[in-house]
Amino acid sequence: MIKIAVLVSGSGSNLQALIDANLSGQIVGVISNKPEAYALERAKKAGIQTAVIEHKQYPNREAFDDVMHQQLLDWDVDLVVLAGFMRILSAKFVKAWEGKMLNIHPSLLPNYKGMHTHQRVLNTGDVLHGCTVHYVTAELDAGQALAQGVLKVNLHDDVNSLASRVHVLEHVIYPQVVEWICTGTVQYTKQGVLYRGQAMQKPVQFCKL
Ligand code: GAR
Repeated sequence: MIKIAVLVSGSGSNLQALIDANLSGQIVGVISNKPEAYALERAKKAGIQTAVIEHKQYPNREAFDDVMHQQLLDWDVDLVVLAGFMRILSAKFVKAWEGKMLNIHPSLLPNYKGMHTHQRVLNTGDVLHGCTVHYVTAELDAGQALAQGVLKVNLHDDVNSLASRVHVLEHVIYPQVVEWICTGTVQYTKQGVLYRGQAMQKPVQFCKL
């Protein structure tokens, strides 16, 4: 059974969706860089061990990442799932977990990498918005996309309504992608990502229009 670690910084609603999904893999641990993250409570309630590794206590990014790396090795983790983990990871850490680390981002990548995605979508007047689950590579929000949740922006949408509507989609697509990996439906190879044994050309889209 695949052993999963979830890395969080905040509320952890995506962690909750993963817990509730009864995945074929096992969530063996949750790491937070923030001691006050509500995600830690969710993990504890589910009987999942937690580790708080505060980035502020380390002199630089590499030193912080080394401690996280060691914790993941100690837990014998196969798959790292970033779920609202708001730290940029060092190239060395990303390399060590190449093909074994996923992120969820609140936009239809490659649009709107980085922060404040909902505001930027509203500013541009986009009709479509959503979220993307992708493999993590050294370049921010740029690894192969595996799934996207797509919604239509309504006239009355604001940042808060978009954030909550995107969250609903995130809670569908993230457990789905993690399950695909647990069951071998998605496989990472040096030549590219396979979906049901075929080269994956584009992310699978889940629409709520
Ligand atoms: C999610 O919307 C996720 O897409 C976003 O943080 C939120 C975490 O919510 N991640 C990023 O912006 C990463 N760049 P949660 O703590 O309730 O799961």
